[in-house]
Amino acid sequence: MRGFKLVILSAVVIMAAACTKKKDSADATGGTSAADSEIRIGQFGSMTGGEATFGISTDKGVRLAIDARNAAGGIKGRMIKLITADNQGKPEEAAAVVKKLITQDKVVAVLGEVASTRSLAAAPIAQTYKIPMVSPSSTNPQVTQKGDYIFRVCFIDPFQGAVMAKFTHENLKLKKVAILKDLKSDYSLGLAEYFVKKFTELGGTIVAEQNFQTGDSDFKAQLTQIRSSSPDAIFIPAYYTEVGLIARQARQLGLKAILLGGDGWDSPKLFEIGQAAVQGSYFSNHYTSESTNPATVDFIKRFREKFNETPDGLAAAGYDAAMILIQAIERSSDMSPTAIRDEMAKTADFDGATGKITINKDRNADKDAFIVKVDGKALKFVTLLKP
Ligand code: PHE
Repeated sequence: MRGFKLVILSAVVIMAAACTKKKDSADATGGTSAADSEIRIGQFGSMTGGEATFGISTDKGVRLAIDARNAAGGIKGRMIKLITADNQGKPEEAAAVVKKLITQDKVVAVLGEVASTRSLAAAPIAQTYKIPMVSPSSTNPQVTQKGDYIFRVCFIDPFQGAVMAKFTHENLKLKKVAILKDLKSDYSLGLAEYFVKKFTELGGTIVAEQNFQTGDSDFKAQLTQIRSSSPDAIFIPAYYTEVGLIARQARQLGLKAILLGGDGWDSPKLFEIGQAAVQGSYFSNHYTSESTNPATVDFIKRFREKFNETPDGLAAAGYDAAMILIQAIERSSDMSPTAIRDEMAKTADFDGATGKITINKDRNADKDAFIVKVDGKALKFVTLLKP
């Protein structure tokens, strides 16, 4: 019995040695035999659930970047394999699928998430395993504070909140604003806080502050309270599903205040859910499809050819995140997660679909924000605000 075990053991050792010899020295991706030449990138997102358009749009942008790169020969001759995991819009699932992508699928980096709450849930895992994580569009400042392997290619909410406050006070000349925020969303809480800070600094008044929770569908009690404060505008830092419902119920209650928001409004579903009630609203975003920036125009053209639709901001940010990651992998000496991390940190002047991207020392990007206005089923570009 003992001898038999030994034979098996030595056979395994010999096989392992043979495998090691065959592998080329550049393979530090954790890939196994057949897939040795593939570079595996993980993606986690809300492909289903109340924020499904976030995951679906982001994935399209990511695939546009990766498919184009593979068609052009991959990275140093190696094909990129994208492994996408659905977290159903749940933070605990985000953490679980990122762990699986790292430990089972052996990805060299992960792309995701959109919603800050889910990025915050997953980031500690990526950091623990020292696998670079690149969020296309999470804007809560804490996301990249989770560690030096965590990056984003977008601006953060202290900027976004300030921009919307300034736009409200100076461009729209509205002085009395009510806030309706989502207690379950780190994004919503942060953005509300930064908006209030800047708006009051500018001399504006916050006349009411009400809360709800992700998944709620009846907002009448909060909106009735808000109505009694007679606001000029209601700032709703939330995601499209709730925003659409809130807008309709606000109009049903006779509220005529202008509705304002942030990037979380960006979804083709906003018009479907909110219909007439969201018309004439304004929000800040990462991108505008009306841009004349050549990199954006090129992205939109190629996106339309591939998917037969106009990309939203999520798709643009997903594309930029994937492009920046691909270039970091290409520049890295051995394509190891650590080398990729170091190259990610050096990203400078990348000409993206969402604008010029330089990763700063906090692993965020200092970028312009675009204010858009809901106009029919389109988002009309209004103005651009700089950091
Ligand atoms: N910035 C949002 C967050 O951090 C996510 C988001 C980005 C939503 C872009 C829509 C568009 O939660």
